Amino acid sequence: MEKAHFNFVLLLLLVIPCVLLISKFYVDTFTFKQPSAQSSFIANRFSLNSITAIKHSKHLMVSAFIDHRINKAIRVISIIKRDSLQPLYCIYCNDDHTCRTAEAEVQIHSDHFGFPYAASDVLCHGAHTQDAAFVSISTSRNISAIYSEDLLPIKNTVIRESFKFNFSVCISNLFGSYNNVLQFVQTMEMYKLLGVQHVVIYNTSCGPDLEKLLQHYKKEGILEIVPWPIDHFLNPSKGWNFVEHGGDLHYYGQLVTLNECIYRNMYQSKYVLLNDIDEIIMPYKHANLPLLMEDLQQEHRDVGVFPIENHIFPKTQFEETGRFNRSKWRGIPGINIMVHIYREPDRKNVFNPRKMIINPRSVTQTSVHSTLQQYGNVYYVPFDVSHIVHVRIPLQGHLTKEQLHNDKRVWDFEHKLVPNVDKALQSSNLLKIPD
Ligand SMILES: *[C@@H]1O[C@H](CO)[C@@H](O)[C@H](O)[C@H]1NC(C)=O
Ligand SMILES: *[C@@H]1O[C@H](CO)[C@@H](O)[C@H](O)[C@H]1NC(C)=O
Ligand SMILES: *[C@@H]1O[C@H](CO)[C@@H](O)[C@H](O)[C@H]1NC(C)=O
Ligand SMILES: *[C@@H]1O[C@H](CO)[C@@H](O)[C@H](O)[C@H]1NC(C)=O
Repeated sequence: MEKAHFNFVLLLLLVIPCVLLISKFYVDTFTFKQPSAQSSFIANRFSLNSITAIKHSKHLMVSAFIDHRINKAIRVISIIKRDSLQPLYCIYCNDDHTCRTAEAEVQIHSDHFGFPYAASDVLCHGAHTQDAAFVSISTSRNISAIYSEDLLPIKNTVIRESFKFNFSVCISNLFGSYNNVLQFVQTMEMYKLLGVQHVVIYNTSCGPDLEKLLQHYKKEGILEIVPWPIDHFLNPSKGWNFVEHGGDLHYYGQLVTLNECIYRNMYQSKYVLLNDIDEIIMPYKHANLPLLMEDLQQEHRDVGVFPIENHIFPKTQFEETGRFNRSKWRGIPGINIMVHIYREPDRKNVFNPRKMIINPRSVTQTSVHSTLQQYGNVYYVPFDVSHIVHVRIPLQGHLTKEQLHNDKRVWDFEHKLVPNVDKALQSSNLLKIPD
């Protein structure tokens, strides 16, 4: 009698884990063979847009990548409405249309600045994710939902150790009727001289002259333009703080595009610069970015994130000689960075915000001024080694020229920069006056 009771308990102890295992198994590896007649149907469901609604939810998905560092999980860069969380499922399929489902793990980034929508990762952990070719995020765990969902192709399926580019710049979010052509062309040509081979811009909208310049750089091959129609989905904020600026999402989705850009460049670029359209990460002791990073990386082998201080060059202060007040550039809309060579001094107790040069393979999540999650260490680059040249409206507008620092670093590039800017303007049909 006592023995039979013992056996029953033993049986229970064996059965319970099995039931648990089977239910887990069901979610993770239930497979579904796609009849070949319906293959073309699947092919037609690929989302051609860079933003896609997750059906039956308020959330949006952007793009999908294999994350080789996290057990080859599928990471879907997403925009999650924070107060509308619900269970989400990944349905992912191989090229031969074997599909699997897995429960999705939603990671909302900690930096959302109070906005209802937040940059997020939806992670799919499951069997054979490394073989998946496309994925959808669904509110249903029923694998048949794949027939009605929009699908994202999965990128970064292969680890690469040599890269197409050494330096890529991620410029988040062009919006409104931004038409600051002269500063943009000078910045692009400066970056080319500094060793940048690739620039990614997320385009919501821009002004008519800048459009011509963007088309030129796209044709030239240096510029990758990612359409970013966030205003078709949400009421994006023009500011960074919900309480002050309102709207659905921080600064046209800047946090989303910065993260997307890191994964987009992970196996494509050795280093990635994360900065704004009007900022130049400038080496002051090296001729260019490759030489700067060679030294920094040699001294700091375990570092993957290099924050660089931002410094303001007020567009209200002009240099006196007029040597860059060129007639050719007079009709071009925007700021001429060559004439604004006065830099604001540091203020006591005021922190200079930073932008970053990163090794994209060492970062998992980023914010604007710092990373949120990374492997390896962070090295704060000293001001005299590199700082950002940021020509804009002053922060310390009361200061006279005598109270500002003279910083003519951009002039060191003048002999190549000026003719290159002219050529780019000419090729964009923006120069009205012939040579
Ligand atoms: C899954 O969806 C299909 C098609 O809508 C339906 O026929 C099937 O009964 C569903 N299965 C489950 C387990 O809900
Ligand atoms: C990147 O840098 C390496 C080493 O300095 C160089 O050999 C290579 O040509 C560079 N690649 C590009 C695309 O410029
Ligand atoms: C930027 O986006 C706007 C709005 O969709 C579009 O009209 C324009 O052609 C785009 N510019 C480029 C260079 O892609
Ligand atoms: C640039 O030159 C033009 C023509 O000589 C002059 O009108 C203008 O004031 C100059 N601008 C600056 C900022 O010196």
